[in-house]
Amino acid sequence: MPWLKNLEKVKVMSKYILAIETSCDETSIAVLEGSKNLLSNIVSSQIKSHKDYGGVVPEIASRLHVEQINIVLDQALTTSKIKLSDLSAIAFTKGPGLIGALHVGLQAAKTLSLSLNIPLIEVHHIAAHIFANNFVQDIKYPALALVVSGGHTEIVYMKQELSFEVIGRTKDDAIGEAFDKVARILKLGYPGGPAIDKLAKKGKDTYQLPKPRSNEDLNLSYSGLKTAVLNLVNNANQKGETIRTEDMCASFQKTAVDMVLDKTQQAIKKYSVKTVVLAGGVAANSYLRDALPKTVAAIDKNIVTTIPPLWSCTDNAAMVAILGSKLYDLKKFSDLGAGVDPNWGISFVK
Ligand code: KG4
Ligand code: ZN
Repeated sequence: MPWLKNLEKVKVMSKYILAIETSCDETSIAVLEGSKNLLSNIVSSQIKSHKDYGGVVPEIASRLHVEQINIVLDQALTTSKIKLSDLSAIAFTKGPGLIGALHVGLQAAKTLSLSLNIPLIEVHHIAAHIFANNFVQDIKYPALALVVSGGHTEIVYMKQELSFEVIGRTKDDAIGEAFDKVARILKLGYPGGPAIDKLAKKGKDTYQLPKPRSNEDLNLSYSGLKTAVLNLVNNANQKGETIRTEDMCASFQKTAVDMVLDKTQQAIKKYSVKTVVLAGGVAANSYLRDALPKTVAAIDKNIVTTIPPLWSCTDNAAMVAILGSKLYDLKKFSDLGAGVDPNWGISFVK
């Protein structure tokens, strides 16, 4: 019957990707229709459970993912109004991340893929952070991605879609890690980034903090900056002086972010790109979000700077889904022998 034929056609043309993200301390599942239409993106954050320890405790993270995964799956399906039988494929974060946490997402993904007899897609967590920018506008290539998160600080050159060359990286701490450690020194709790960002707005950049000497390469270093804050705080304590926390936050934030901005300008001069995108948890930083477009435009007004929406800066499955959808079109499927890779380097993504 003609109407039945049409219905079949619609089903073939629609694509529904269910994506699972469990690499760190957020259990998240999203359903995406087509390449961009996000139907649901449920995020269950574990931050409260890790707060007392001043950072993510891997064993607690794994256990909480196990507790949450089915609840989050139900919510993601209910919100999207999509049935399991409508799904076209399951995408999941294969790495990098915490091994136990990643395994929870892997097992859920394999179970769904096997029981529904639909493809399984392995997604790289950092590549997914980068791809989240496509929710704002399509990335034009060649592009430069500034990956700034709790575990990574990398400048990635993308000659074309899905080609990732790390042209600069931190030699020690990641920028988000530095925010978290400085917040701990200033007794601001965990995670430190949002707390420092908030207090910095009330302070002035009055403390002299060291910046690494500028050089040709695109690498960064944050451990010296963190130690400088620690020394200033210890010296003040020994002399019975008080640290002006707001001013220290403003000074630290400006120094830490300016280091990324300087390297971005150097990278743009070296590599001819059409777009600069920001990715990772520290992309939520208000000073960085404000300064990056101006920094890029100061070198070349024709380069488009894309800042991901705030909701997609911290870990979520929507970003896994949007990259998963692209990989689905390219038929980059994995078999049920798939595993996790806690140290998966982005340059190895094929
Ligand atoms: O990408 P993400 O959620 O997890 C990782 O994959 O690492 O990033 C978390 C990091 C934490 O270090 C957190 O302190 C930082 O992002 N962060 C911020 C802000 N919001 C989150 N750093 C600076 N300013 C913020 N507003
Ligand atoms: Zn992340």
